[in-house]
Amino acid sequence: MNRTPIIAGNWKMYKGGAAGVELARDVVRACGDLAGVTVVLSPPFTALAAVVHAVAGSRVEVAGQNLHPKAEGAFTGEVSAPMLLDAGCKWVIIGHSERRQLFGETDQGVREKTAAAMAAGLRPIVCVGETLAEREAGRTLEVVSRQLDAFVSVLAERPGFGTIAYEPVWAIGTGKVAGPEQAQEVHQALRQRLSSTDAKLAHVTHILYGGSVKPDNASGLLSCPDVDGALVGGASLDAGSFAKIVEASPSRV
Ligand code: PGA
Repeated sequence: MNRTPIIAGNWKMYKGGAAGVELARDVVRACGDLAGVTVVLSPPFTALAAVVHAVAGSRVEVAGQNLHPKAEGAFTGEVSAPMLLDAGCKWVIIGHSERRQLFGETDQGVREKTAAAMAAGLRPIVCVGETLAEREAGRTLEVVSRQLDAFVSVLAERPGFGTIAYEPVWAIGTGKVAGPEQAQEVHQALRQRLSSTDAKLAHVTHILYGGSVKPDNASGLLSCPDVDGALVGGASLDAGSFAKIVEASPSRV
């Protein structure tokens, strides 16, 4: 199965205004016309519309970083799937470990958000990952399986539309990247779990790796058979570094 690699930049709470537009333009210049790889940028909400405008006419696509499961309502500070679509997003990141750890997101909440995104036609990138304590206790596969089980039936409603990101919490923003073997082991287990729901789902679902992906470790990770791309935080804030990661995806080398 040929899954076109996806390289997504998660800007987190950085580059919210003019700096985001400049970064998006630089990314388009550096890698906006590359075929054989899907490039996604995820700016803060305040920069979404401007970044959509900045990438127009290129192959670069745009993601929200979060959404509320309801379409509209009295939910101060929240943004819905139809609003993200309306702003020009095709994607949304869901259940990032920072949202789970700092904002109390639960497996059930992640499921609801994934369902809302899928129903609206917004492609979810749903994050799973274990903490250092969980890894050291030998509970990695148990934890990521539990997280996946919460939303797998939603992904199965439209196989291939939704994407998973495996992001070990201990590797996010720490410089401690999972080695290719460590990443492959978990990705393979996640795919196995998908296949117990539906064989086709396992074949067509992208599983991205995230956590300290940098230009110098990207090609080792991206050449693992079950790693279908990367969710990049820190290195996505520099267009040159991000472009090098895009270029390291297997169809480019
Ligand atoms: P990092 O972040 O690349 O800075 O580790 C990844 C992420 O949080 O998605």
